[in-house]
Amino acid sequence: MTMYSTRRSLALGLALVPAAMSATLVHAQIVKGPDMKSIERGRYLVKIAGCNDCHTPGYTQTGGKVPEKAWLTGDALGWRGPWGTTYASNLRLVLQKMDEVQWVATAKSAQYRPPMPWFALHDMRTQDLKDVYRFIRYLGPAGEHAPSYLPPGQEPKGPVVQFPAPPK
Ligand code: HEC
Repeated sequence: MTMYSTRRSLALGLALVPAAMSATLVHAQIVKGPDMKSIERGRYLVKIAGCNDCHTPGYTQTGGKVPEKAWLTGDALGWRGPWGTTYASNLRLVLQKMDEVQWVATAKSAQYRPPMPWFALHDMRTQDLKDVYRFIRYLGPAGEHAPSYLPPGQEPKGPVVQFPAPPK
């Protein structure tokens, strides 16, 4: 190798360094960590929208003094009325089965049984729904699935909140 060509390949090598660096930067942007601002807002929305009131065991009874790691893990307290008996789902597990797009579509259209305020989900802005989703996914899966829905006439085994018949 002549002196000239050695210098040239060295120069070429150096010229490639910025390219490699910017490739690393692009990569860093793609694999960026969770959006903590969105997650923080999701935490706030879950608190003020009352999701914990039913979906977190003991939350209402203790005035919200349940550690965050137990939030939204579903409840075995039954809600009994003319619709049968419903149980607030374990959202930590339910949301594992959906991506963000599916969640937004579901939340904007699904109609659940009482006392789930599904109409409140329909009214939430898309970004709010995404924030809620990101927060719940950030908490990760935990707990067991809530008991299955029981049709009217089927006796629930555990404790229930009994609703009166609808006004005539
Ligand atoms: C008053 C009690 C109550 C409140 C408040 C409440 N939920 Fe629910 N939720 C329920 C019950 C009960 C069910 C089960 C309904 C059924 O069986 O059809 C349910 C079901 C759901 C489901 C369906 C999950 C599945 O199994 O597929 C989603 C999603 C959900 N709730 C999200 C929320 C979110 C988000 C909030 C806060 C904005 C919230 N809920 C607030 C009681 C409640």
